[in-house]
Amino acid sequence: MRKNIVAGNWKMNKTLQEGMALATELNETLAGYTPNCDVVIGTPFIHLASVAAAIDKKKIGIAAQNCANKEKGAYTGEVSAEMVKSTGAAYVILGHSERREYYNETSEILNDKLALALANGLTPIYCCGEALEVRNANGQNAFVQKQLEETIFKLSVDDFKKLVLAYEPIWAIGTGVTASTEQAQEMLAFIRSIIAGKFGQEVADETSILYGGSCNAKNAPELFAQPDIDGGLIGGASLKVADFKAIIDAF
Ligand code: 13P
Repeated sequence: MRKNIVAGNWKMNKTLQEGMALATELNETLAGYTPNCDVVIGTPFIHLASVAAAIDKKKIGIAAQNCANKEKGAYTGEVSAEMVKSTGAAYVILGHSERREYYNETSEILNDKLALALANGLTPIYCCGEALEVRNANGQNAFVQKQLEETIFKLSVDDFKKLVLAYEPIWAIGTGVTASTEQAQEMLAFIRSIIAGKFGQEVADETSILYGGSCNAKNAPELFAQPDIDGGLIGGASLKVADFKAIIDAF
């Protein structure tokens, strides 16, 4: 059975002290309680090692929000997949639309990041999703298919099976506009169908695909009840334990 996952993406929020307080509170809240899903928090790089030392990593997985497309060396300011792994993080978010858009991350760059993440034993949470213009022109399926064909569909089946996918329509991120349950389910079913076409139905059935974009405690139960929605990648609502816990409890 594929896993249900609720993953937080803190983005560029929280000082080290604030982040530690948030992670510790979440850890305490989940102690003595078994959620019906895997829980992951995607912190900024600076929090990774401290958070890893302070929480129960069997209960809360830790994700970086990025890693370098180079292995090591003279790349000032970059953080390698190996470094991420050494902190105790188990996941890395790759291909987020904010990185594609603001930091010009191309499919070529993402392929290098994916290879390095996998080589270092990190689980990529690989994001895809279309802009509003594409949705308005009804081009979302072709757009997302191209994003996947240029990147993760080039992986071996064994590597593909290590990924978690996240569909995040850009028009729903941070806007308060969630994709309707039908729109989200329809796209995730489409993604699963093209995974089946590429890697076979069994692999498609085992792939966890998350929805992201203004997911909150109110809309999560209906979204997570859909047959192809295996959880959420949560931005704003992951920054407060009560909000995030309510989303976890939607499973
Ligand atoms: P919001 O939940 O703030 O819309 O962000 C979604 C997102 O981009 C998670 O990666």
